[in-house]
Amino acid sequence: MAAGFFISKTVGIVGIMLGLGAVATIIALSVVYAQEKNKGTSDVGTSTTPSTTTTTTTNPNDPWNRWRLPATLKPEIYEVSLQPFLKPDANNMYIFKGSSSVVFMCEEATNLILIHSNKLNYTMQGSFHVALQAEGGGEAPAISRTWLETPTQYLVVQLAAPLQQGRRYRLSSSFTGELADDLAGFYRSEYTDESGNRQVVATTQMQAADARKAFPCFDEPAMKANFTVTLIHPSNYVAISNMPAKNTRQQIIDGETWNVTEFQTTPRMSTYLLAFIVSQFTSVQNDSEKILIRIWGRPKAINEGQGDYALNVTSPILRFFEEHYNTSYPLPKSDQVGLPDFNAGAMENWGLVTYRENSLLFDAEYSSIGNKERVVTVIAHELAHQWFGNLVTLRWWNDLWLNEGFASYVEYLGADFAEPSWSIKDLMVLNEVHTVMATDALASSHPLSFREEEINTPAQISEVFDSIAYSKGASVLRMLSSFLSENIFKEGLQSYLHTFSYNNTVYTDLWDHLQQAVEKNNVQLPDSISNIMDRWTLQMGFPVVTVDTKSGTVNQTHFLLDPTSSVDRPSAFNYTWIIPITWMTDSGSGNSIYWLTKVTDTNSVFRLNSPGWLLLNLNVTGYFRVNYNQENWDQLLNQLGTNHTVFPVINRAQIIDDAFNLARAKYVNVTLALNTTRFLRWETEYMPWQAALTNLQYFQQMFDRSEVFGAMSSYMRKQVTPLFTHYKNITNDWNDIPSGLMPQYNEVNAISTACSYGVTECQQLAADYLSAWENSTDNPVPPNLRSAIYCSMVATGGEKAWDFLWKKFQEAHVVSEADKLRTALSCSPHPWILNRYLEYTLDPTKIRKQDATSTINSIASNVVGQPLAWDFIRGNWRTLFTQYGGGSFSFSRLILSVTQRFSSEFELQQLEQFKKDNQDIGFGSGTRALEQALERTRANINWVKENRATVLKWFEDENKQSE
Ligand SMILES: *[C@@H]1O[C@H](CO)[C@@H](O)[C@H](O)[C@H]1NC(C)=O
Ligand SMILES: *[C@@H]1O[C@H](CO)[C@@H](O)[C@H](O)[C@H]1NC(C)=O
Ligand SMILES: *[C@@H]1O[C@H](CO)[C@@H](O)[C@H](O)[C@H]1NC(C)=O
Ligand SMILES: *[C@@H]1O[C@H](CO)[C@@H](O)[C@H](O)[C@H]1NC(C)=O
Repeated sequence: MAAGFFISKTVGIVGIMLGLGAVATIIALSVVYAQEKNKGTSDVGTSTTPSTTTTTTTNPNDPWNRWRLPATLKPEIYEVSLQPFLKPDANNMYIFKGSSSVVFMCEEATNLILIHSNKLNYTMQGSFHVALQAEGGGEAPAISRTWLETPTQYLVVQLAAPLQQGRRYRLSSSFTGELADDLAGFYRSEYTDESGNRQVVATTQMQAADARKAFPCFDEPAMKANFTVTLIHPSNYVAISNMPAKNTRQQIIDGETWNVTEFQTTPRMSTYLLAFIVSQFTSVQNDSEKILIRIWGRPKAINEGQGDYALNVTSPILRFFEEHYNTSYPLPKSDQVGLPDFNAGAMENWGLVTYRENSLLFDAEYSSIGNKERVVTVIAHELAHQWFGNLVTLRWWNDLWLNEGFASYVEYLGADFAEPSWSIKDLMVLNEVHTVMATDALASSHPLSFREEEINTPAQISEVFDSIAYSKGASVLRMLSSFLSENIFKEGLQSYLHTFSYNNTVYTDLWDHLQQAVEKNNVQLPDSISNIMDRWTLQMGFPVVTVDTKSGTVNQTHFLLDPTSSVDRPSAFNYTWIIPITWMTDSGSGNSIYWLTKVTDTNSVFRLNSPGWLLLNLNVTGYFRVNYNQENWDQLLNQLGTNHTVFPVINRAQIIDDAFNLARAKYVNVTLALNTTRFLRWETEYMPWQAALTNLQYFQQMFDRSEVFGAMSSYMRKQVTPLFTHYKNITNDWNDIPSGLMPQYNEVNAISTACSYGVTECQQLAADYLSAWENSTDNPVPPNLRSAIYCSMVATGGEKAWDFLWKKFQEAHVVSEADKLRTALSCSPHPWILNRYLEYTLDPTKIRKQDATSTINSIASNVVGQPLAWDFIRGNWRTLFTQYGGGSFSFSRLILSVTQRFSSEFELQQLEQFKKDNQDIGFGSGTRALEQALERTRANINWVKENRATVLKWFEDENKQSE
């Protein structure tokens, strides 16, 4: 990828842990923001430009040195015409030409016009970059000076006299820009077509602050306006934009014939939601609905039917949201486009959603159920934004958590409507709640909500797109909806959308409308919505609720994974929350919500008079962890051992996840956590298994180089064998596909766990598939099982198997298949093979540059590969650092993944030495990761020291019992 600064955000799709040597394969990235780091260089003027650049002013109070636009001018309508050239020019550069005008209203008299502009070269009009006219007759003030203020990305226009309040003006300009491959603004994407020719697509990614790279505009989300877009393109290329085409005509420009496609004027919208695409893509469409729905992609992919699944699920999802919001889909059509090499997951441009291919296209022959789930949830996420986010938009990026958290919540509702048999809503607990709690339990976490003045620069804006915004946002909104009930939540939501359509809001506007619904329906709450929610949005972290069933006492404490860490961020609420608690006991469910509004309270509903158990936080609708007195833990474990199905499936996962995290934070003993895994022998459900495997992975990493691992492996084999047999039976020897989403996921868990911990029957199964494959042109492995089976093939098949899969990797033409093979190739136990594979990652003809770090990460997750990867990184630091750039996100992942097993004094010393040795080169965006790795290594050393003997004894005792 070109120079730039890329940050990937997790949308939070299921990650399946594949045990030894394999890694999580399905991680959806949301939008990737290409963030140009400003180098302060001037890009003023074209070659025909007289120099109008003036001396730089450095007064920070000058409006052009501030990051936010003044409130003096309000854009109303833009006319934008863009002509991308899909072949390089004489200088071997791809460019686009453009002209645009904007009519704005003067809200306050001013003699200054500030409009965003980044990396555009203007054709001068006289001595100025722009021309200004008054609308509706009369004279506009004369321009006295124009210049480009590069650091803050403004085009500045100074006038000889002020614009008059209440009058409209039109600002016009012509410009050229580079159609770079930098994924920002108007950019190019490339692919090889069926005839082997390189094809270029001109496409856009405006969020968060790159519309200004395509044309000069008031590039803030609250500066909504109507847009009339015109695209000038070759006649054999299709042009699409947010709205349907209004007309196409042909025009000769510089001796060549071009098609000029003008689109209908958009409703009032924010600049970051604009999209323009010129390509040779084809589409499948559904015109049986009220609006036209099309799925676009490379002609080959579309011909192969890879757009069909997306087309199938789009209509039901749109219908679901129309009902959910009680608002018609706001535009006349819905286009969705899969882009090759699009480094983003997806972007919700209004009426023209863009996706990376594997988040939109689905190939029935190669793709797994996980690939399918990703497609339906990402589509639901982006379509949810067509109303929440696009029709009604948060005023500024500080409230991004509400926009993304909301979409991350309702994507599950929309996907559930399209795939009702999947119970996909339950997965929120694993994918969002449990996942983000791991981050939010650190003293270095941050609150959901920022103050508007805290977020100014493009870099600060891209930083707010993190897992706290997406997953914690989703978790607290799910909690809110659950204590209000979905219907009351919907009523408030609908009223909010109706009130603010085509306008902007702040997050408290939603609280106000929910409050009105609460009052209308007489819902009893301990406090206002706003007072309850402030606790969850304005302070970081979450509570652990501890109950003592002997006394009926409940109390809350801020849960910190490292109990010795100190919190230096003050909270107005002293880290206490207003907590909705649901519960059940062995004699039935509590049928109301108990609100914990103080630090400690005593209530008879939590006092058990006879021996029995109490379970809190049903279905984990609350964003908190639960701890109990030892007697109650014993009762819960006892119930798990006799009949675990008494507890809801989600709570079986919760008991495991809470216990392991409480043990990490030293609230309970490590043996209690391990005891929660005993019942897995009888468990076939996915969620509890997944919770256990995720948590046991830490044990594996800490102990897979020590004698503990032998005992752990035999325990794991004992636990997983019944599950493996269960799936073997219900799938008729792995030939049938289990019905339902989660049974299919757990089949993968059964195989990956059984094979990686050495269940011979599993390894034999993989070996049989391998020999069948070697003797056939068809791949005999069912798509769902491929990641797990490929890993086992490589782990046990030696050099021959590795070379065979490497060949298959090189031949793979479906990205999801290539990814599965690439990951599996890191499962080899042979150091020389792994070292060779590491070398391949620095050779772009073998491993694409964009895949290099994730390949090194996979190798490092293999116990044999980890020290090799560490040596490799130390040995090649300079190369890696320059190849991946100082700002790359994957770069910090690299440091964290290679050091994840570090748990000895010796490794700590090596890490400190590494830091010292490379001080001169630096660590770029890996700087914080390096500090985290040091901190984590120290914590691991302590953890292993404290727990090793206990854990070894626990596994040994368990293994003895079965004999
Ligand atoms: C813009 O102008 C700069 C400076 O002259 C030049 O280097 C750059 O290539 C130009 N870009 C385009 C797209 O014409
Ligand atoms: C280009 O314009 C001609 C004439 O209007 C039209 O027939 C043709 O379909 C257009 N091509 C595209 C790709 O829109
Ligand atoms: C601008 O958008 C609004 C809806 O937000 C619409 O009512 C209006 O007609 C549009 N204006 C033009 C000129 O199309
Ligand atoms: C799309 O729906 C049609 C009609 O229900 C069905 O035959 C087809 O298998 C579906 N395609 C996919 C990929 O799900």
